[in-house]
Amino acid sequence: MSCTIVVGGFFGDEGKGKIVAHLAYQDHPSIISRGGVGPNAGHTVKMGEKEYGVRMVPSGFVYPHARLMIGTGVLVDPRVFGREVEMLGVGGRIFVDYRCAIIDEGHIERDKSSSHLAKTIGSTGSGCGPANADRVLRVARLARDIPELGPYVADVPLEINSALDRGENILLEGTQGFGISLYYGTYPYVTSKDTSASQIAADNGVGPTRIDDVVVVFKAYPTRVGEGPFSTEMEREVSDRMGIQEFGTVTHRQRRIGQWDGKMARYSAMVNGCTQAAITGIDRVDRDCFGITEYDRLTKKARDFLEQAEEDIGCPITLISTGPDVSQIIDIRGEI
Ligand code: IMP
Ligand code: MG
Repeated sequence: MSCTIVVGGFFGDEGKGKIVAHLAYQDHPSIISRGGVGPNAGHTVKMGEKEYGVRMVPSGFVYPHARLMIGTGVLVDPRVFGREVEMLGVGGRIFVDYRCAIIDEGHIERDKSSSHLAKTIGSTGSGCGPANADRVLRVARLARDIPELGPYVADVPLEINSALDRGENILLEGTQGFGISLYYGTYPYVTSKDTSASQIAADNGVGPTRIDDVVVVFKAYPTRVGEGPFSTEMEREVSDRMGIQEFGTVTHRQRRIGQWDGKMARYSAMVNGCTQAAITGIDRVDRDCFGITEYDRLTKKARDFLEQAEEDIGCPITLISTGPDVSQIIDIRGEI
């Protein structure tokens, strides 16, 4: 590993943050930088007894030895950023690219009061769509214009590319998921930007030739929050009976739950340029797999599922998450 991108293969909330945390502890990146849309992304991080809902700080913050960065393409809400930096105590090691566009109160109002965005699309109401629209119209403010961000602004592409020149490992975090990409998702029921690996590289100012690995994260049972088509969606009654219930980190809306979608997984792997796949929630395929850390101890049911998933994706599955804790994972990257 030298420069690795982690992205979501379905509709977001695949458990990318946990995969990022595992890779960080294993591979010791000097920088963990996020791409993606902005504070519409939510990631729940469990640290000991505490649980944090993080929206701006990269989810890799749990690994204390990396500098944390927010790439140029990402929208920054300075209020959310300020609260999280204080809550997590990461002030000394977090940086924001000076060209990040800013979410103002007005963007949030427009997002929440537009019946098209708030109701038809089911946006998160975090102001991202209107802020990206203003960025394209070239009337947005940038991070360099915001005095409170002064201590944090940096040239993120320069930091990352210089670290790569020194031979350091870099992790680039995607947010959202393939199915809600502005380009490749279920338009118009999508977010306000592409979410594929190429976009995450561009968000951080890293050229395609410098990317070594693209890890696409798939959930054994995909979920979707907000409106839009979801071809493998299950009746709520069925998912409830299976004991699967999830709520969004940003909006607390109940997530829709679906069956594995092999066709979507394959297309998503193709556009993302997947080199390795991660599967999360294998303990939902078979409860007996909860917490297991060795492949050979997985049940036959789980191994059959993984075999089919690997065939669908067309790439080796090298990471298998067996529970919410960072330690609950099978890592067979060395065996391929
Ligand atoms: P927006 O990005 O807030 O405009 O919302 C557009 C659509 O994308 C809605 O269906 C949201 O629920 C969905 N969405 C945006 N960000 C995320 C995310 O991080 N995870 C899951 N769904 C998201
Ligand atoms: Mg999320």
